[in-house]
Order: sequence, then structure tokens, then C-alpha cells
Amino acid sequence: MQVKELAAKIQPELVELRRYFHQHPEPSWEEVNTANRIAEELAKLGISVERKAKTGVVGTLKGTRPGRTVALRADIDALSIKEETGLPFASQNEGYMHACGHDAHITCLLGAAKILSQLKDEIAGTVKFIFQPAEELAQGAKKLVEEGAMDGVDGIFGLHVWGDLPAGKISVDPGPRMASADMFVITVEGKGGHGSAPHQGVDAVVVASAIVMNLQTIVSREISPLEPVVVSIGKIVAGDRFNIIASKAVLDGTSRCFNPEIRKNLPDIIRRIAENTAATFRAKAKVEYQFGCGATINDEHLTEIAKGSVKKLYGEEALAPMPLLTGSEDFSFYAEKAPATFAFLGICNPEKGTCFPQHHSHYTIDEDALQVGAAVYAQFALDFLAEKK
Ligand code: NI
Repeated sequence: MQVKELAAKIQPELVELRRYFHQHPEPSWEEVNTANRIAEELAKLGISVERKAKTGVVGTLKGTRPGRTVALRADIDALSIKEETGLPFASQNEGYMHACGHDAHITCLLGAAKILSQLKDEIAGTVKFIFQPAEELAQGAKKLVEEGAMDGVDGIFGLHVWGDLPAGKISVDPGPRMASADMFVITVEGKGGHGSAPHQGVDAVVVASAIVMNLQTIVSREISPLEPVVVSIGKIVAGDRFNIIASKAVLDGTSRCFNPEIRKNLPDIIRRIAENTAATFRAKAKVEYQFGCGATINDEHLTEIAKGSVKKLYGEEALAPMPLLTGSEDFSFYAEKAPATFAFLGICNPEKGTCFPQHHSHYTIDEDALQVGAAVYAQFALDFLAEKK
């Protein structure tokens, strides 16, 4: 039996597993029960298990022939959202929900482990199964890399279920797929005073407002219109009372882009605009910029392998294009260590009512896609390792 048939055969088990994980969501860094169940499932298959990055699990399966090492990654954390699906297997952990489909990722990767453990004779090399905690905080991948999860890995593949993509379709394309995500805080220092005599103070509210407006020119006037960039201020805190001139304002923002060169320049651009705008009004501004995770950029060659795997399994028609996403993924940390490619697995089926955006309180998936995800993970591993290098 080959990968597609093996995946179809374990479909009922996959549904059961997915419902178990869906029912027991745990937030980032607290995926204790989730990790235990994953480790248990891997051990049942005779796969060696290591615990890394607190609640991470890394399984290693060696083929019967020597070769390179491929890693397959699934993230395992849930979100603090109150589930409103009304499903019989809805969250039993009040206030938490697998609303980003990470329950499906765990299941698909365990499915791949089940498939590949039956195909050891076809594996030339080693398969690492990386179950990553704390993706929603963009922290888990970095920690796993620091703890050596990527040591000796020659290539890595990851996937994400996606609510906009028809169930069972796979999007895997070369180049940028998801944006980088960074954070910054701008602190404006003005001078307080009576609201009736603004000339005696330096109004931090006016300065903050001007900074917000001037930051809009980064995207509209400074960066090429052919390069997608987002600069958003999501929070402003300033002032104490309606008739007092605010002496201080704090602005929290995020920036996103797909081009690493632009990303490198954004802190300087934001700093220049904030500081000089403040100076215009006799105030001072300080910018603290924190790099979060880089853009998810798919390696050309690995993407070709992944496309080939999908075609082999389900034919050309299973491949579906998807536009770039300004959301981000900490999968990019693995890509700093080895060639990487990241795919999207469609779970939207209007007849089953599974077409909600990610992080929605009604989010759910067409479970028929589980076997597809499991098969694609497994087939990619076999195809990557089959390449002579
Ligand atoms: Ni997610």
C-alpha cells in the first residue's frame, strides 16, 4: 500500500484524534496534556521521542537505509477564545479553543508518523516530527531551534489548514508566503499644562496624532508601491483629564512586510519620522523596535518537491494558488537553519459549514482534509529523502 491508501485507511483514527485535541485545547507554553498525548501516540509507533522547548515533542524515525534528515513541523497550541461552534466535541477547557486549526496540524503530523512508520523500508534517511508549542506567541520555533531541534536537518516542511481554501486543496508556492511581524513602541515626551493655555505646554496628544499620520507616508510615499508593507498603530495611551494638556503619549504598533531588506530598514524609517515629527512640535520621541518573526519565504527547490508530492498523491487539480498573507508564522525561524517550504491545506466546505476565517469562534474544519494533510506530510518526506544528494 502506498501513502494515499495508507492515509485513507487511517482516516477514522485521524478524526478521533482531531476531536480529542479539539476538545482539550491548551494555551501557548501550557500544552502539557497535548504533548503527553502526542508522545504517547509516537511511542506506540516505535518512534523515539524527545521533549524539547518545555512542551514541545520531537519524534525521530530512522529508515532502513542511510540518507539525509527531513523535518516535518506541526504547531500545537490553542487560543484564548470562547468556542461557539456548538459541536459535540467542542472545547472542554472553558475560554480556550483550537480556533486556528492546530488540532488538525497535530493530527495530520501524527497521521504522517503512522504512515511512515509502516514504510521504513522506503525511507532513505531520517524523519524528524517536530510538534511545536507556542506558535501563537511566535516563540516556540525559536526555542526549539535554540534547543537543537534543527541540528542535522537538511530540509523542513510545514503546513497550515486554511479557512479560505476549498477542502482538500493544497497551496504550495515558491517565494514569500506570509509576512514578517515586528512590534514597536513610540514614547512621546511633551510638557503638561492647563487645557485653557496650550501654549504653555507641549501637547503629547497632538504630537502623537501627527506621528500616526506621518507614519502613513512610509507605505504611501517611501516604499515602492510594488512592495506590500503594513505599518499599523493599534494602541495609543495619553493624558489624564479633558482639561489637562497631556505630557506623555505611548503608541504601540506593528509592521509587516515580505521583503527582508525593507524589514531591516523599517526601524530607522519609523525612528526618523517619530523623532523628527516630535521635534517639529518641541517634543521628544523615543522608539523601541522589537523584531518578531521573519517572513515565511518558501525555498524554490523544496517547493518543487512538495508540488510533485501533491501531484503524485491527488493530481495536478489538487494544487490551488493562494494570495500572499499579511499574517505571520514563526515557521520562518526554521527556514533560517535549513531550506524550508510551507503549504496551506484547504478545509472550507460550504455544505459542511467549515468556511470561517482563522481565529473565529465558529472555526472548524472539513475533517476529510485530515487524510490529505497526513499524506502530503508523509509523501514530502519520502520524496525529499529519495533525492540523491
Ligand atoms: Ni495558526
